[in-house]
Amino acid sequence: MTTPTTTELFRDFVMPTYGRFDLELVRGEGTRVWDETGKEYLDFGAGIAVCSLGHCHPAVTKAIADQAATLIHISNLYRNRSQGELARRIVEIVGLGGKVFFCNSGAEANEGLYKLARKFGAPTGRYEIITFANSFHGRTLGGISATAQEKVKIGFAPLVEGFKHVPFNDLAALEAAIAPTTAAILLEPIQGEGGINPATAEFLRGVRALCDRHNLLLFFDEIQCGLGRTGDWCAWRSIVSQGVEPDAVSWAKGIANGYPLGAFWVAERDAGLDDEGTDRGPLCNLLGPGTHGTTYGGSPLCSMVGLTVLSTIEQERLLENARKMGFYLRSSLESLNLAAIRQVKGIGLMLGIELNDLPAKESDSSTPALRMTKELMREGMLVIPSGERTIRLLPPLNIIKADADEALSILNACLRASADPES
Ligand SMILES: Cc1ncc(COP(=O)(O)O)c(C=O)c1O
Repeated sequence: MTTPTTTELFRDFVMPTYGRFDLELVRGEGTRVWDETGKEYLDFGAGIAVCSLGHCHPAVTKAIADQAATLIHISNLYRNRSQGELARRIVEIVGLGGKVFFCNSGAEANEGLYKLARKFGAPTGRYEIITFANSFHGRTLGGISATAQEKVKIGFAPLVEGFKHVPFNDLAALEAAIAPTTAAILLEPIQGEGGINPATAEFLRGVRALCDRHNLLLFFDEIQCGLGRTGDWCAWRSIVSQGVEPDAVSWAKGIANGYPLGAFWVAERDAGLDDEGTDRGPLCNLLGPGTHGTTYGGSPLCSMVGLTVLSTIEQERLLENARKMGFYLRSSLESLNLAAIRQVKGIGLMLGIELNDLPAKESDSSTPALRMTKELMREGMLVIPSGERTIRLLPPLNIIKADADEALSILNACLRASADPES
């Protein structure tokens, strides 16, 4: 009997939910990954903004090994020190008091926010959450209902009730959409899957003011943009440094460098009155015993990895590096003056290159973003498409200038060639 190839194993046994690239990766170190033939790639996707410290960072590997040899899992019926420490670190990072709940993924963190909105609004008959065009909030039923992109919803009706979508960065449309049933507003300060679209400072200020005026909760989905990627722990503060504070924030992806972990933080603000007119106390205590939970969330192992990732970002001064390298990449890309580039978008190391229409071979009906991603892959660089015409650069936060220069040289060659009809 012959041993099946990985391609054959995937074809025969793995559900076909992903449009995968024809690439099998076997090893990673820092900003590099290698395929099964030994070919090396510069990884500017980092697992879609997950591996903020790069692949197999020694501190992460050690934390996993040490904790795995000590205590991997206990149930959430008991306390564990690292969950408490990680919660405290996140509360410090946000800097507004409040408390944290741990889960396993981004979609699951957002599910917690949806439940929080409903619990908050229940005494006054409010349950609706407003989200924004081109957003992405995950693949659970709640997540696809919250996501304002038709393509994720097709075939899954009936969706979860109570989500309304309005155009992004459009305060007038948002104000018009607020109804007596509205409980919360959920937005990504920088939209990741929808094409790297930052919220404007004016929009964030306006949304906060509308939430205050109508007593709505303001939720930030920082699953892709948060925890250092923009050069600030909190992506919204890279847009407005002061005066716009959320009522809850969700994270996943970069929080534990690839070890599955999600979290959401909830503010201390007053939760208002219950049906009997009694004060419900702080919002961060509203989801009380029996209201929410998960088996794995905040285990000793994932919490220790999360703590290690956050402390390594601090020790290695990676927020500063993300700002510096992000600026360098962005300004270098802009100064290349390439016909293939419509604009460079984003903040810090969450960058999007929006492509112009590129000449394509007649047989190739794929989007400009997909074509460019494949071209770059052939040349030894991994990026992530975002929407139809944007490629995302989401390298590890510890990239050095030599990595950035190598990426710029590959991008320059591929983008130049793509705009040349003769190539
Ligand atoms: C902004 C945002 N929210 C939610 C999610 C869902 O996270 P997960 O895939 O961990 O469920 C993602 C994933 O891409 C995301 O980018």
